[in-house]
Order: sequence, then C-alpha cells, then structure tokens
Amino acid sequence: MNTNFKNDINEGLSKPLKTLPSKYFYDKIGDALFVKIMKLPEYYLTKAEFDIFKNQTKKIISSLKIKPNAYFELIELGAGDGTKTKELLKELLAENYNFEYIPIDISKNALSKLETTLKAELPQLKVSTKQGDYFNVLDSLKASSHSKVVLFLGSNIGNMEDEKAKQFISNLSNSLKNNDKVLLGVDLIKTEDIVLPAYNDKAGITKAFNLNLLTRINNELDANFNIDDFSHQPEYTESEGIARSYMVSNKDQNVRINALNKTFHFKKDEKIHTETSRKYNDIILQTILEGSQLNIVSKLLDSKSFFADYILIKTENHV
Ligand code: AVI
Repeated sequence: MNTNFKNDINEGLSKPLKTLPSKYFYDKIGDALFVKIMKLPEYYLTKAEFDIFKNQTKKIISSLKIKPNAYFELIELGAGDGTKTKELLKELLAENYNFEYIPIDISKNALSKLETTLKAELPQLKVSTKQGDYFNVLDSLKASSHSKVVLFLGSNIGNMEDEKAKQFISNLSNSLKNNDKVLLGVDLIKTEDIVLPAYNDKAGITKAFNLNLLTRINNELDANFNIDDFSHQPEYTESEGIARSYMVSNKDQNVRINALNKTFHFKKDEKIHTETSRKYNDIILQTILEGSQLNIVSKLLDSKSFFADYILIKTENHV
C-alpha cells in the first residue's frame, strides 16, 4: 500500500478544516474523467491553450529564440496525451530544428501511450520518455549540458498554492542553465460566469472527478464513505483569482477508515477542501517568479484572451 497516500489522507482529514490533496484525483478512473473534462463545453482551458498552439506555432518558436542548428532538449513536465505539444513538434520538425523531445510524467501508462502515438504520427521525432516525479527527473537532467526548453502547460501550476508555486519555480530555475527557456501555460483571471461553470459542468463529470477520491479511499484504505452523502461545491472569488473545489457532507455522519484504524466525523454542511485552481495575471506571475532567475520575455494569448502561454528565460545574475 502507498504509505504517502495513507499519511496524506490521515493528515488532511485530521485538520480542523479538512482537506484532501487534488494530486490523488489521478488514478485510472480519475485520469479517464479528466480526459472527459478537457472535452466539456464549459472547460475552456484546454481549448484556449490548443488555440495558441494551433494558430501561433511559428510565433511560439520565434519567441523561444532557438538557434537553428544547435541541438536542444524539449522537456515537458506532466505530458499527458500531448495533443497541444504535437502542434509544436510538427512545426519544429518541418523547420528542421535539431532537438529531442523528453516528456516526463508520473504515469508510466500515459508515457508509453504517448510514445506509441508519437512513433506512429511523427516517426522522424527523437523521443526519450522519463518516468517519475518532476523534481527528481529535473535534477537528473541538470547533468546534461544541452540547451533546454521546458514546457509546463495546462495551468497545472494553478493547482499549487502560491507558496508551493514559488518553490516549484525556484527549483525549476535552479535546474536550468543561463538562456534556457520555459513555456508556462496559465489560466487568466476572468469573471465568475466563465470560470465557475468550468468546475461545475452540467453533465456532472467534474463532480464525479472530485468524488472519485472518496471511492479511491474506500478501495485503497478500506473505508466506508457513502458517495451519495457528499456533494460537490466549487467556489470562485474574482478579486482573489482562485477557484476552490470542496466536497460537502450532506448530513452528520461517521466514516470508518480501516487502514488508519480511525473513524472520522463529518458535520452536516462541513466542507472538505479538495482543489485549488489559481488563475493568473502579469502581477501575480511576477510575484511567483520573484527570487528566481526566470524572467518573462513574451506572452501569447488565445483569441478570447482566456489563457496565456508565457515564455520565461533563465538569466543568471553574475556578481
Ligand atoms: C489539471 N488542472 C489544471 C485542472 C484545473 O483546471 O485546475 C484540474 C481540474 N479540476 C477540475 N477540473 C479540472
């Protein structure tokens, strides 16, 4: 059994304001539900970023200022199914750039699927997959002296609290060399009527995605959550730019988690925080980058200005 999972669930449910970490959404069922979310009419994020990759591919490449003949590594953190990245890969190949694509993902399954489709669709592409936690893998890549372009797309950074995001950016900056680039995709702050439905779709897929975590706890930690006794409740504050998802207990209830040998009490209407989805603007991104050696060089927007792909450059401060 995964002891991190067990400890994190115990810790989160023992707090006065209960929490469950969103990173545990992504088991096999969660992965499949997330693929469905990306296709939902309300979930604009994936479509907006795809619009940038499809329609501004040449602009992405010119903004990255890659030297035409110099070899570089194109590293993607949390590669997923690579739909957006394929647009960039096709153009880089068409323009004869000299590079290797290195997708990094925690899921072996996702990586081998991606490798198979890339081999079939872009046989001339050099691919080398790396399975593992971003930081460990980034650390191992530090050893290579080649130039790097790191892709971190999909507003995945938005699922980190600001302090975590700062730490992540600082670690990322430390694993890069002078002049290396980062392409960072973030969802932008906008009004509630657009953001909230993305986390509360009519078909109920996001609800199932959230509550699947309780099923996962039932299966992996021998617990007896009754999924129907919890609701899904997303909230969004535009002034803060953060969407938060909660599960709400529909009644006073006790839940037994045998693997922890503990019973947890949930009051009627008690909320469990499951996910933070931060939205960005230039000022917020600047505060996250502060203290790192990554600086913004350009910003590409989709046609509706819902989403931004920022290009960052690592600049070492020499004393
Ligand atoms: C992966 N991540 C950027 C998604 C988001 O928008 O925060 C996860 C998600 N949660 C609910 N819907 C999608």
